[in-house]
Amino acid sequence: MLQFEGANILSVDQFDADSIQRVFTIADQMIPYAHRKKRTRVLDGAILGNLFFEPSTRTRVSFGTAFNLLGGEVRETTGMESSAIAKGESLYDTARVLSSYSDIIAMRHPKAGSVAEFAEGSRVPVINGGDGTNEHPTQALLDLYTIQKELHHHQRTIDGMHICMIGDLKYGRTVHSLSKLLCLYKGVQFTLISPQELAMPAEVLSALEDAGHRFTVTDQLAGVMDADIVYQTRIQQERFASLEEAAQYRGRFRLNSEIYTRHYKPNTVIMHPLPRDSREEANELDNDLNQNPNLAIFRQADNGVLIRMALFALTLGVADKVSQYDTDVVWFSDKANY
Ligand code: NCD
Repeated sequence: MLQFEGANILSVDQFDADSIQRVFTIADQMIPYAHRKKRTRVLDGAILGNLFFEPSTRTRVSFGTAFNLLGGEVRETTGMESSAIAKGESLYDTARVLSSYSDIIAMRHPKAGSVAEFAEGSRVPVINGGDGTNEHPTQALLDLYTIQKELHHHQRTIDGMHICMIGDLKYGRTVHSLSKLLCLYKGVQFTLISPQELAMPAEVLSALEDAGHRFTVTDQLAGVMDADIVYQTRIQQERFASLEEAAQYRGRFRLNSEIYTRHYKPNTVIMHPLPRDSREEANELDNDLNQNPNLAIFRQADNGVLIRMALFALTLGVADKVSQYDTDVVWFSDKANY
């Protein structure tokens, strides 16, 4: 079991089944706070340093929201150009300094391994919000939490499920982290659909093999018909040498309502880490699916707040104290049903 208190959260490799269960149990307990039915001041006085050196909406804002919902305050640094890193400062120096201004740090950076490097200089726990093409552990946890909930709804389990990952599997860090986390389960079948040049890295495939999972690697949209989960991804244009190079892969694997109805089995859960690329030439997940009850993308994003609240509460050692610092919310709140 991961010793959460004071730990950095850098990779999904740190998690075993019990640690995941611990995170999910605490995440469930966060629901009334995330829905603003109750508030807690358990992190009163604590400061989150939210450092995002790459574009982000959901991850950055949900880290901040999660911390605020626990009663803490958030200091943000966004963009390389507005930080001293642009003047040549090392990650180590930045970490030494910023960690004395914060009690915990969440960080995203374009370079693989950079968040771990930063953590070496930090005197407070560091949570990886995405390091280049490498990992995105909090996204993988929220994806797994979502998968478990969605499948439970249809009396299915992660053990023995069939997941189909589609799109940019080479550069997409969310599918790398999620696949590795799924190695803790049994008999998962993977269909990995991408242009040949954007196939899942060999390192991830060998992890699936070691876990005894069956997988098919293909550039055809075959095999989706009996998937329990379809996980679409965006072509990661920022990782290519040029925008033109990325452009040739956009729009290859689209999903819309007609394809879903014609080819997918009933109740196939549709996931995407977001942002979906809604430009005409890409449109990997069409807006005409927005009313489909199996479209889980916004539930994924909502679950991100619960998972990040749980990780903050665990790493700062207050997971079992949250309700001691409770108060009721007196203003009108209608968030119970989202
Ligand atoms: C993903 C990321 O940044 O890796 N987004 C996210 O955090 N939800 C996926 C993407 O940008 O395509």
